[in-house]
Amino acid sequence: MAANANEQTQEELILSFLSESGGDYTSGEALSSKLGLSRTAVWKHVEALRAKGYRIEAVSARGYRLVEVPDRLTSLEVGPLLDTRDLGRTIHHHESLPSTNEKAFRMAQDGARHGEVVVAEQQTAGKGRRGRTWVSPPGLNLYFSAILRPGLPPQRAPELTLVAAVALAESLRDAGVEAAIKWPNDVHIDGLKVAGILTELSAEPERVHFVIVGVGVNLNSQAEHFPEELRATATSLSLALGQPVHRARFAASLWTRLEEWLDLYLDTGFDAVRARWKALSSTLGQDVLVRTDRQELRGRAEDIDPSGALLVRTAEGSLERVLAGDVEQLRPRR
Ligand code: BTN
Repeated sequence: MAANANEQTQEELILSFLSESGGDYTSGEALSSKLGLSRTAVWKHVEALRAKGYRIEAVSARGYRLVEVPDRLTSLEVGPLLDTRDLGRTIHHHESLPSTNEKAFRMAQDGARHGEVVVAEQQTAGKGRRGRTWVSPPGLNLYFSAILRPGLPPQRAPELTLVAAVALAESLRDAGVEAAIKWPNDVHIDGLKVAGILTELSAEPERVHFVIVGVGVNLNSQAEHFPEELRATATSLSLALGQPVHRARFAASLWTRLEEWLDLYLDTGFDAVRARWKALSSTLGQDVLVRTDRQELRGRAEDIDPSGALLVRTAEGSLERVLAGDVEQLRPRR
């Protein structure tokens, strides 16, 4: 693994040298002296980059030129587009992981810092809420987990999921679709799920050690990429827009939004997030069926309380507080 990590750094360095020279050629000699590598080693790295989809022209006596950058989610593609202080400044990029949440959780236990992000091109065991799986085919979508060390008491950590939902819905709106939040933290376009959030926590009674905010966004999946049973309920940004989505640009926009909302939340508290969440919600005002681990509940989704729990008014007139569950909207808002 250490050799791989090292190789990745060399490849990233080669790419940044090549991007710095714009469309001009960089000689093999210049690259090998900058990197302290032999010309053969530079060539091998260039070949490895080509295998990953970078188009690098090589002309004898002139050197190398970067012609095309693939749609990938390494720091090299996302970094220049980012407008954040911490979030995504360190990206741990993987071709394939069972789950970015699991990886980020272990890294946080080992001391990874606030704002570090784990990204995978593919997940083989992507985790959804309530024990479900998150379908994560390679190279199409965005699957990441952000490591946050927010200095909050553990009981306030669930609010971070709503912070992320607001950022997610806003960045999808920035991309040109009418995204809405379905309680607790699904993001929908025209009633079809486009993104989900899985927040996991490590804490002691008084103090959060870290929070992992895991987000999956269907960016370029087409109908055939969804399993049969999801086709009627899932969508992607690309399906909604009718055109391919530049994943690195979307990731940079989302992380920028996420850090803005996180800063506001940590500075001023939950009120502004709650107000924005309510404005973006497709659940409030709806007749709903809520399924929790213990019960099924029907009523009108009236509000979310200061901690993000759903308040449901039943036919009998009582107001029930639901902390976790799934919501089925029984008829569209009038
Ligand atoms: C849900 O709506 O059920 C939540 C889905 C969360 C999926 C993301 S993909 C990146 C991160 N890693 C995981 O294993 N899960 C989250």
